[in-house]
Amino acid sequence: MSNVVKKPTHVYDCFPDHDIGMVHGGGGGGREKIEGPPLAAMYHEVMQRQEARFDRFGYVHIPYCSTRCKYCGFYKYPITAEHTDLFVELLCVQLKKVADFSYTRLEPFKGFYFGGGTPTALTVSQLDRILTILNDSYAFADNREITIESSVQDLDDDKIALFKAHGVQRLSIGVQTFNEGIRRYLGRRVPVNQMVSFLRKLWKNGFTVAIDLLYGLPGQTMELWQEDVKYFVELGIDGISPYGLRIFPQSPLKKEIDSGQNPPIVGLPEKMEMFLWAREYLLQNGFRQIGVDHFGRNRERNEYLLAIYHNFDISPFGMGAGGKIDRLSFFNTLDFNQYEKMVSAGDPPAVGGIVKDENAVYMDYLNGQILTGCCDIDKIDRLFQKDTRKIFENLIEDFQERDLLRLQGDVLSLTDWGCCWHSRINTEFGNTFDRVFSPLKTTFDFSSSGDHPAPHHPMIGHRSHER
Ligand SMILES: C[S@@+](CC[C@H](N)C(=O)[O-])C[C@H]1O[C@@H](n2cnc3c(N)ncnc32)[C@H](O)[C@@H]1O
Ligand code: SF4
Repeated sequence: MSNVVKKPTHVYDCFPDHDIGMVHGGGGGGREKIEGPPLAAMYHEVMQRQEARFDRFGYVHIPYCSTRCKYCGFYKYPITAEHTDLFVELLCVQLKKVADFSYTRLEPFKGFYFGGGTPTALTVSQLDRILTILNDSYAFADNREITIESSVQDLDDDKIALFKAHGVQRLSIGVQTFNEGIRRYLGRRVPVNQMVSFLRKLWKNGFTVAIDLLYGLPGQTMELWQEDVKYFVELGIDGISPYGLRIFPQSPLKKEIDSGQNPPIVGLPEKMEMFLWAREYLLQNGFRQIGVDHFGRNRERNEYLLAIYHNFDISPFGMGAGGKIDRLSFFNTLDFNQYEKMVSAGDPPAVGGIVKDENAVYMDYLNGQILTGCCDIDKIDRLFQKDTRKIFENLIEDFQERDLLRLQGDVLSLTDWGCCWHSRINTEFGNTFDRVFSPLKTTFDFSSSGDHPAPHHPMIGHRSHER
């Protein structure tokens, strides 16, 4: 590695270029792009298999939203009844079609995750139709976890009753901040007291309730961030993902920043301090760190995040969903007309993918294990017939010097600073592997960079995990 900085005094200085890397870091090993007829052929080949080597999860992407928050960079369509009725129809066709493949019937699913956009922007009857088909067509493990992403604005008593009836037990709610002024500025419409009483109600109804909070928001100081985290802890609900604000180029926020109209926004060093403070506070208050940016207590499990880390197969449904089955990572079209055409013709709506070789599978597994914070090197070496310690000897030593990683016995774990740099760390592992084994290889990356609108491609390029 070049430009190595030893024992920095601030977490921000761990890498001299200060580049935290892609949203999803990783890479390493052989990865080939695949699209068009070869992608469709490979998809059909994996879906007709009679055996599977990974556990499985489902991801349904509902790219609709009834609002537009200033900062949001997620790809989404505005909600209209006509559009969503047809989308729901097509999604149900896709769900049924995939359910009939021999691969799908091999083993029960550990769970499903509905992400967006805002899936609960759909109506009760649309959600009912999707969940009915899901429960009728798919086999589930006993302790399955079905999560639906939502905002309080799009939930009501009828939807809650529907989720109960269909066995949805976890809700991931975008809160972003409890600060009334910042909420109004961001375009979050529900007042704090109303939102909080709804969160309490969900929790009393027996749902696992996890929320997203953003740090580095316009006008948000360290003190205001601390108030948000403390407020969350006092609420008693189960899970929290603290996410650092990213500025997406097409967002209204970016336009305001460019014209100098926004309240002050802190830089990356301060954002790292905000994350580190929250991590420490949450751990001191009885939370477990479930992933680099997720913490839970009580009934929180977050099986979807663990499925990604554990290198599960993830079947992607809906426009813009990404997933992987065995060595094939792929993503569905984001374009409504193309989705309609492909699904109506009985084709998989996948428009791009990557085929990994066994080295890439190893790298994704290793990088996922690192994200768990508890990576058992010997176990990985037994699984993949590698000598991880030897391949990454210099890198591990270097990262220990910078206080990013810790190697104790056979277990490699991220330090608190390492959590701030997890994406870059994954990428450096990938690059090191390639320098050792295929120095002339050209690399590419399908994952979105920190600044670009992000469709949901959880498995493209990287990420796996195990506890
Ligand atoms: C796709 S949204 C789904 C939740 C729901 N739509 C809501 O906002 O209430 C998932 C999460 O992405 C995060 N997110 C959205 N825009 C972001 C940005 N610019 N930077 C960082 N995180 C962002 C938010 O925390 C949000 O809750
Ligand atoms: S953050 Fe959530 S509610 Fe806001 S625009 Fe994005 S998807 Fe919609």
